[in-house]
Amino acid sequence: MKERVPVKGVSFPLPTLNATRRLARLLSAHLAGNEVVLLSGELGAGKTTFTRFLAEALGIDPSWVSSPSFTLVQRYPPGKRGLAITHVDLYRLPEGSDLEPLGLHEILASPDLVVVEWPASAEQFWAESQRPLIRVAFTGIGRQRSASVEGLAMSQSKS
Ligand SMILES: Nc1ncnc2c1ncn2[C@@H]1O[C@H](COP(=O)(O)OP(=O)(O)OP(=O)(O)O)[C@@H](O)[C@H]1O
Ligand SMILES: [Mg+2]
Repeated sequence: MKERVPVKGVSFPLPTLNATRRLARLLSAHLAGNEVVLLSGELGAGKTTFTRFLAEALGIDPSWVSSPSFTLVQRYPPGKRGLAITHVDLYRLPEGSDLEPLGLHEILASPDLVVVEWPASAEQFWAESQRPLIRVAFTGIGRQRSASVEGLAMSQSKS
Protein backbone atom coordinates (compact mmCIF):
# COMPACT_ATOMS: atom_id res chain seq x y z
CA MET A 1 0.00 0.00 0.00
CA LYS A 2 1.26 3.48 -0.90
CA GLU A 3 1.06 6.50 1.35
CA ARG A 4 2.39 10.04 1.04
CA VAL A 5 5.24 10.57 3.47
CA PRO A 6 6.94 13.92 4.08
CA VAL A 7 10.64 13.78 3.26
CA LYS A 8 13.11 15.17 5.80
CA GLY A 9 16.24 16.98 4.64
CA VAL A 10 17.23 14.97 1.58
CA SER A 11 20.30 16.47 -0.11
CA PHE A 12 20.67 16.64 -3.90
CA PRO A 13 23.99 17.57 -5.53
CA LEU A 14 23.44 20.24 -8.21
CA PRO A 15 26.77 20.49 -10.08
CA THR A 16 25.08 21.49 -13.36
CA LEU A 17 21.97 23.29 -14.58
CA ASN A 18 20.70 19.94 -15.78
CA ALA A 19 20.87 18.56 -12.25
CA THR A 20 18.69 21.48 -11.10
CA ARG A 21 16.29 20.75 -13.95
CA ARG A 22 16.05 17.11 -12.86
CA LEU A 23 15.37 18.10 -9.26
CA ALA A 24 12.62 20.48 -10.40
CA ARG A 25 11.08 17.69 -12.47
CA LEU A 26 11.24 15.29 -9.54
CA LEU A 27 9.60 17.83 -7.26
CA SER A 28 6.91 18.67 -9.83
CA ALA A 29 6.00 15.00 -10.16
CA HIS A 30 5.22 14.83 -6.43
CA LEU A 31 3.35 18.13 -6.06
CA ALA A 32 -0.33 18.13 -5.20
CA GLY A 33 -0.39 21.84 -6.11
CA ASN A 34 -1.48 23.28 -2.77
CA GLU A 35 2.05 23.53 -1.40
CA VAL A 36 4.20 26.56 -0.64
CA VAL A 37 7.73 25.99 -1.92
CA LEU A 38 10.16 28.05 0.16
CA LEU A 39 13.53 28.59 -1.53
CA SER A 40 16.39 29.73 0.67
CA GLY A 41 20.06 30.36 -0.05
CA GLU A 42 22.48 33.20 -0.64
CA LEU A 43 22.51 35.58 -3.61
CA GLY A 44 23.01 33.57 -6.79
CA ALA A 45 22.42 30.23 -5.06
CA GLY A 46 20.05 29.10 -7.83
CA LYS A 47 16.55 29.90 -6.52
CA THR A 48 15.22 31.65 -9.62
CA THR A 49 16.85 29.03 -11.85
CA PHE A 50 15.04 26.31 -9.92
CA THR A 51 11.74 28.24 -10.20
CA ARG A 52 12.25 28.50 -13.96
CA PHE A 53 12.79 24.72 -14.25
CA LEU A 54 9.79 24.08 -12.01
CA ALA A 55 7.65 26.22 -14.32
CA GLU A 56 9.02 24.32 -17.31
CA ALA A 57 8.19 21.00 -15.63
CA LEU A 58 4.61 22.20 -15.12
CA GLY A 59 4.30 23.20 -18.77
CA ILE A 60 4.58 26.92 -18.08
CA ASP A 61 6.78 29.02 -20.40
CA PRO A 62 10.03 29.27 -18.38
CA SER A 63 10.95 32.57 -20.04
CA TRP A 64 8.20 34.22 -18.01
CA VAL A 65 10.16 33.52 -14.85
CA SER A 66 12.51 36.33 -13.89
CA SER A 67 13.84 37.95 -10.77
CA PRO A 68 11.18 40.49 -9.94
CA SER A 69 12.57 44.04 -9.89
CA PHE A 70 9.80 46.37 -8.75
CA THR A 71 7.05 43.84 -8.28
CA LEU A 72 7.77 41.35 -5.54
CA VAL A 73 5.03 39.06 -6.79
CA GLN A 74 4.58 37.58 -10.26
CA ARG A 75 1.94 35.15 -11.49
CA TYR A 76 2.46 32.67 -14.29
CA PRO A 77 -0.84 31.33 -15.67
CA PRO A 78 -1.59 27.61 -15.66
CA GLY A 79 0.49 25.45 -17.94
CA LYS A 80 -0.11 21.94 -19.26
CA ARG A 81 -0.62 20.51 -15.77
CA GLY A 82 -3.35 23.07 -15.07
CA LEU A 83 -1.31 24.60 -12.27
CA ALA A 84 -0.42 28.30 -12.07
CA ILE A 85 2.56 29.58 -10.09
CA THR A 86 2.59 32.69 -7.94
CA HIS A 87 6.26 33.59 -7.56
CA VAL A 88 7.12 35.77 -4.58
CA ASP A 89 10.62 37.23 -4.15
CA LEU A 90 11.05 39.18 -0.94
CA TYR A 91 14.72 40.13 -1.48
CA ARG A 92 13.83 43.77 -2.15
CA LEU A 93 11.32 44.02 0.67
CA PRO A 94 12.65 46.75 2.95
CA GLU A 95 13.32 45.48 6.46
CA GLY A 96 10.41 45.98 8.85
CA SER A 97 7.94 46.82 6.08
CA ASP A 98 4.25 46.08 6.28
CA LEU A 99 3.54 42.75 4.58
CA GLU A 100 -0.19 43.45 4.24
CA PRO A 101 -0.02 45.23 0.82
CA LEU A 102 1.66 42.19 -0.71
CA GLY A 103 -1.62 40.29 -0.46
CA LEU A 104 -0.03 37.15 0.93
CA HIS A 105 -3.32 36.03 2.52
CA GLU A 106 -5.02 36.17 -0.88
CA ILE A 107 -2.08 34.43 -2.52
CA LEU A 108 -2.19 31.63 0.03
CA ALA A 109 -5.96 31.32 -0.43
CA SER A 110 -5.59 31.03 -4.21
CA PRO A 111 -5.35 27.70 -6.04
CA ASP A 112 -1.85 28.57 -7.29
CA LEU A 113 1.32 26.78 -6.37
CA VAL A 114 3.25 29.38 -4.35
CA VAL A 115 7.03 29.59 -4.80
CA VAL A 116 8.94 32.01 -2.56
CA GLU A 117 12.51 33.32 -2.75
CA TRP A 118 13.92 34.99 0.38
CA PRO A 119 10.97 33.74 2.49
CA ALA A 120 12.41 34.57 5.93
CA SER A 121 10.79 38.00 6.38
CA ALA A 122 7.30 36.52 6.03
CA GLU A 123 8.01 33.31 7.93
CA GLN A 124 4.93 33.71 10.12
CA PHE A 125 2.66 33.74 7.06
CA TRP A 126 4.05 30.46 5.79
CA ALA A 127 4.06 28.88 9.24
CA GLU A 128 0.44 29.88 9.92
CA SER A 129 -0.78 28.81 6.50
CA GLN A 130 -2.80 25.61 6.13
CA ARG A 131 -0.69 24.65 3.14
CA PRO A 132 2.04 22.01 3.20
CA LEU A 133 5.46 23.70 3.26
CA ILE A 134 8.29 22.39 1.12
CA ARG A 135 11.65 23.89 2.00
CA VAL A 136 14.46 23.82 -0.53
CA ALA A 137 17.76 25.19 0.82
CA PHE A 138 20.46 25.90 -1.79
CA THR A 139 24.11 25.94 -0.75
CA GLY A 140 27.56 25.87 -2.32
CA ILE A 141 29.09 27.30 -5.45
CA GLY A 142 30.41 25.87 -8.72
CA ARG A 143 30.38 22.07 -8.87
CA GLN A 144 29.74 21.96 -5.12
CA ARG A 145 26.20 23.32 -5.39
CA SER A 146 23.52 21.31 -3.65
CA ALA A 147 19.99 21.60 -2.34
CA SER A 148 18.38 20.09 0.69
CA VAL A 149 14.68 19.33 0.31
CA GLU A 150 12.36 19.03 3.28
CA GLY A 151 8.62 18.45 3.55
CA LEU A 152 7.93 17.02 0.12
CA ALA A 153 5.31 14.30 0.44
CA MET A 154 6.44 11.32 -1.62
CA SER A 155 4.58 8.11 -2.21
CA GLN A 156 6.24 5.27 -0.38
CA SER A 157 5.28 1.69 0.08
CA LYS A 158 3.95 0.98 3.53
CA SER A 159 5.85 -1.84 5.17
N1 LIG B 1 22.92 23.98 -10.68
C1 LIG B 1 23.53 24.98 -11.29
N2 LIG B 1 24.67 24.77 -11.99
C2 LIG B 1 25.29 25.81 -12.61
N3 LIG B 1 24.88 27.08 -12.59
C3 LIG B 1 23.77 27.35 -11.90
C4 LIG B 1 23.04 26.33 -11.20
N4 LIG B 1 21.98 26.91 -10.59
C5 LIG B 1 22.04 28.22 -10.89
N5 LIG B 1 23.11 28.50 -11.67
C6 LIG B 1 23.52 29.82 -12.19
O1 LIG B 1 23.75 30.67 -11.09
C7 LIG B 1 23.36 32.01 -11.40
C8 LIG B 1 22.47 32.56 -10.30
O2 LIG B 1 21.28 31.79 -10.27
P1 LIG B 1 19.89 32.38 -9.78
O3 LIG B 1 19.60 33.69 -10.41
O4 LIG B 1 18.91 31.29 -9.98
O5 LIG B 1 20.17 32.61 -8.23
P2 LIG B 1 19.18 33.16 -7.10
O6 LIG B 1 19.35 32.27 -5.94
O7 LIG B 1 17.81 33.31 -7.66
O8 LIG B 1 19.80 34.57 -6.79
P3 LIG B 1 19.08 35.82 -6.06
O9 LIG B 1 19.26 35.61 -4.60
O10 LIG B 1 19.87 36.99 -6.57
O11 LIG B 1 17.65 35.87 -6.48
C9 LIG B 1 22.70 31.95 -12.77
O12 LIG B 1 23.64 32.41 -13.74
C10 LIG B 1 22.39 30.49 -12.98
O13 LIG B 1 22.44 30.12 -14.34
MG1 LIG C 1 16.46 34.95 -7.62
